[in-house]
Amino acid sequence: MRALQWTGVNELSVGEVPDPELLDDRDVIVKVRRTVTCGSDLHLLGGYIPFMRSGDVLGHEFLGDVVEVGSAVRNHRVGDRVVVSSFVACGQCWYCRQELYSLCDNGNRNPAITEGLWGFAPGGCYGYSHAMGGYIGSHAQYVRVPFADVGAFTVPGDVTDERALFASDAAATGWTGADLGGVSPGDVVAVWGAGGVGQMAARAAMLLGAERVFVIDPLEERLAMTRRYVGCDTLREGTDDVGAALLEATAGRGPDVCIEAVGMEAGGGSPLEDAYDRTKQYLRLQTDRPTALRHAIYHCRKGGSVFVLGVFAALADKFPLGAVMNKGLTVRGAQMHGQRYIPMLLERMQRGELVTEHLATHVMPLDEGPRGYEMFKTKEDGCVRAVFLPNG
Ligand SMILES: NC(=O)c1ccc[n+]([C@@H]2O[C@H](COP(=O)([O-])OP(=O)(O)OC[C@H]3O[C@@H](n4cnc5c(N)ncnc54)[C@H](O)[C@@H]3O)[C@@H](O)[C@H]2O)c1
Ligand SMILES: [Zn+2]
Ligand SMILES: [Zn+2]
Repeated sequence: MRALQWTGVNELSVGEVPDPELLDDRDVIVKVRRTVTCGSDLHLLGGYIPFMRSGDVLGHEFLGDVVEVGSAVRNHRVGDRVVVSSFVACGQCWYCRQELYSLCDNGNRNPAITEGLWGFAPGGCYGYSHAMGGYIGSHAQYVRVPFADVGAFTVPGDVTDERALFASDAAATGWTGADLGGVSPGDVVAVWGAGGVGQMAARAAMLLGAERVFVIDPLEERLAMTRRYVGCDTLREGTDDVGAALLEATAGRGPDVCIEAVGMEAGGGSPLEDAYDRTKQYLRLQTDRPTALRHAIYHCRKGGSVFVLGVFAALADKFPLGAVMNKGLTVRGAQMHGQRYIPMLLERMQRGELVTEHLATHVMPLDEGPRGYEMFKTKEDGCVRAVFLPNG
């Protein structure tokens, strides 16, 4: 089959790889209709997560048709149109029973790397390096889906492919941040990052009853998209006085919940802060640039909550621990728990409460994947997400 492969730092190519096969009775094989780029893939592309091997197939967000079914699968049949959670989870371990699916003890076939790095291994993720399970990714014509009864969800007939695709990851990630960040009715919420994840976190906060939601990003075109399709307020990092605007909206207190949806390749901040972080990351004296996280912690109200949705690899310098402690903040983070939210997200998509298709700014055949990634990385032509059609 055709697949988009990582062949080195900032190097991609489309080639032939073996078709996937059922390896376990709980597997299904999905013929991919649509698969989409994610900010997380940029960290792999740029070499910031050093556990890729040349030839690895990228991609973790996808929707398609079930074409083969293992003998123990109960919920799916050949022909089902399914959207699949980007994280692989067994549904039975202690973590899955707490609905913390991305922490599944059985989702990562190769836990040694992350156990060494973080103490314990989280679950696995399609196409997301050998540290996260070494699964073959979804930028391919077919994907093997393990634990299919748990991770694949039949899409209601009246929800389009274009919309449902984003239940796989971006929408579920946004919901994870707003829900576990503790957004409550009446809250003021600030979200750093207006990519697919930040926009979906803002929409989730609105649907959970936030009174006012701000999305902050340096890119005006993404902010304009956010105002139009998400329907919340925006602030331009580097131009607007973000602090003053957030204070004004909260009677001088600051936002109740601050969601970081930028991650380890953040820009922004003062020129000194930016140069410091880039130099330390370049010299491998830190793995992550936590600029937006620092801002979220700084602007959050006393006693408020900061949620880290952006992906971080290991160590970040100048972490404002004093602010966390003295302001009584709660800081949490997570990879998304798709299995927990996807059925509810599909219902909201069906009712038109959750609109996602505007994120797919560029749609193309899989063979044009390298160009799609280049556009997504450089944000050329307003690219927010490149969607690939592996089977035409
Ligand atoms: N937790 C999860 O399960 C999960 C799932 C998917 C993606 N992610 C992560 O979420 C993050 C965002 O993903 P995305 O797909 O939206 O990425 P993206 O690259 O499309 O968007 C990131 C946005 O952050 C903006 N930005 C950069 N510096 C900023 C700053 N200082 N302040 C405000 N905004 C700033 C950029 O301009 C860009 O618009 C990434 O780190 C990605 O890896 C996490
Ligand atoms: Zn993703
Ligand atoms: Zn599990």
